[in-house]
Amino acid sequence: MIIKHLKGWALLAILAVSAPVIAQDAPSAEEGKKLYEANNCGSCHALDKKVVGPALRGVTDRRSEEWLIQWIRNNEKFRKSGDADANALYEEYGGAAMNIFENLNPDQVKHILEYIKTAPVPTQEVAVTPGQPAEDNSNSIYILLILVAVFGVVLMVLSKVKNSLLRVAAEQDPEAYAEQMSKLPLWKRLLPSKLANMNTTVLSLFVTIIIGLPMAGYGYKFSISEVGVQKGYAPEQPIAFSHKLHAGDLNLNCRYCHSTVEESKSASIPALNTCMNCHKGVQLTEKYNGNVSPEIQKIYDALDYDPEAKPGEEYGSNPKPIRWVRIHNLPDHAYFNHSQHVKVGKLECQTCHGPIEQMERVQQWNTLQMGWCIDCHRNAGIDAANNNYYAALHAKAAGDIENNGNNSQYFGPDGKVRITPAMNGGLECAKCHY
Ligand code: HEC
Ligand code: HEC
Ligand code: HEC
Ligand code: HEC
Ligand code: HEC
Ligand code: HEC
Repeated sequence: MIIKHLKGWALLAILAVSAPVIAQDAPSAEEGKKLYEANNCGSCHALDKKVVGPALRGVTDRRSEEWLIQWIRNNEKFRKSGDADANALYEEYGGAAMNIFENLNPDQVKHILEYIKTAPVPTQEVAVTPGQPAEDNSNSIYILLILVAVFGVVLMVLSKVKNSLLRVAAEQDPEAYAEQMSKLPLWKRLLPSKLANMNTTVLSLFVTIIIGLPMAGYGYKFSISEVGVQKGYAPEQPIAFSHKLHAGDLNLNCRYCHSTVEESKSASIPALNTCMNCHKGVQLTEKYNGNVSPEIQKIYDALDYDPEAKPGEEYGSNPKPIRWVRIHNLPDHAYFNHSQHVKVGKLECQTCHGPIEQMERVQQWNTLQMGWCIDCHRNAGIDAANNNYYAALHAKAAGDIENNGNNSQYFGPDGKVRITPAMNGGLECAKCHY
């Protein structure tokens, strides 16, 4: 009897304790989507496609929730703790480092995971490069279809004309007509006479041009818009963030914001929390009659931050996304690694990106085309002597110079020793193509 009662009470107690917890913390996909966007996960991830990091759909099946929380909040610490899967994943991505998101608490990570788990699978995806409306591509398809249709109508009309002419001919001299027809190959008998009488080479040229030209045009247009590399591309950004002000006038180091550029493939775009290191304080109220600068207000709105709130309660639960428009974007088949160029190659950002510290709005300074990469790999000097990475190459060059003196291939046009990335395999297709 007593035991029965106790059981009942215990059950009630458990229900009483757990019910509100469940109700409060049930992961919400909607919440997760906002957090996913506000933290710019999408600048490195897509759900169904590998970008800088893996495609995320199905990740909750591949990994445990506990694992994912640790990974997402601080993958560096997690890797250093010795987790084998975390280290394997990092290796797999060639040391591309994901940002640290300790601003997200475990419950918020659960929201994000719920979003990833439940996001609808897109039925029909049209590839759209930033600033390039999708219709651009389909337009050319329409033009092609119209041309084909016009060609078809012309054929039909000609064949009508031919048939009536033939009827006349057959009525006048049935025998001669039958004999002539039997000599013709089948395809000529079916074609209208105007076309059938044409020289075959001219005819095939004609057909090739009618069908081939629009196809080639479409292919060309598709390739340039798909590849999305455009010199001078300078889209408007959702916040009027100025590199001239921050990297020029305030002289902030590029690495302060693009913090993964030394150790990883990608330079990364900073999370808005990096901006808050200063913009919690820098509100420019003097400039805007006592109000927060409208551009800085956008940072606050994105993070759902209220500077007036009580300490500890400044951050609300309703962040809205900031979607920076991606400017530089190589096609999927090309591999470019920042750390290789910045850390090993010791190149300045400006060599490739131009005078960013003078730009109010970032623009793509170089074409980023293959010829541009190759050009520099042929000509850039590398300091092979003081870099262990080049020990073997350096020894080889030293040996060659000893044997061949001034004729050594390791002398540049100016008669000085010159070692280039090309000599280290920098022109091999597989180095840049997956
Ligand atoms: C700067 C680029 C970058 C950003 C921003 C980024 N990630 Fe990643 N993420 C990566 C890379 C790269 C990997 C692969 C492992 C590695 O090399 O670190 C990865 C791995 C992951 C994985 C493990 C996937 C698997 O297959 O096991 C998850 C989950 C993940 N990221 C979630 C997120 C979430 C959620 C956010 C936003 C809060 C985010 N990432 C933001 C680059 C990024
Ligand atoms: C205070 C933070 C901050 C500093 C410092 C900073 N950047 Fe940026 N950078 C950003 C943000 C935010 C964006 C995305 C918005 C934009 O394009 O303006 C960006 C975008 C870029 C892009 C374009 C990315 C794309 O979409 O292709 C390049 C290139 C770049 N920065 C290079 C640099 C260089 C080089 C320096 C140093 C001279 C530098 N940045 C300093 C924050 C910063
Ligand atoms: C190291 C401190 C620092 C960091 C980090 C920083 N800013 Fe600033 N930012 C400033 C200062 C200082 C000013 C004001 C300069 C002035 O006096 O006009 C400013 C001005 C601005 C303005 C101009 C506002 C206006 O109305 O004139 C914008 C927009 C802005 N920052 C956005 C950002 C964004 C976005 C980030 C993060 C990617 C960021 N800032 C990171 C210090 C910083
Ligand atoms: C050897 C040329 C080169 C140098 C040097 C270089 N970049 Fe880049 N950068 C690129 C290319 C190419 C891309 C496009 C990469 C892609 O789409 O995969 C890029 C993309 C970027 C982006 C966009 C986000 C990303 O990572 O794809 C940022 C931000 C950036 N670079 C910042 C920097 C900064 C900061 C430095 C200096 C510390 C620097 N870059 C040095 C060539 C270079
Ligand atoms: C130093 C790096 C590098 C090397 C080496 C390299 N490529 Fe490329 N390649 C690129 C980049 C970056 C692109 C994308 C930009 C573009 O379209 O030009 C590209 C694009 C291409 C394309 C797409 C055509 C186009 O113009 O869009 C083909 C095909 C190609 N490369 C073949 C090769 C072959 C074959 C080799 C070896 C002989 C090679 N590549 C070596 C960097 C390289
Ligand atoms: C301004 C000069 C410059 C440009 C532009 C440039 N690179 Fe490089 N690249 C270098 C230097 C210097 C190295 C040598 C550093 C090293 O060996 O890792 C290098 C090394 C590399 C390597 C490693 C080669 C090896 O054997 O270790 C790859 C891959 C590569 N670059 C790809 C690219 C691609 C793709 C592009 C174009 C999108 C590009 N690079 C544009 C200067 C450049």
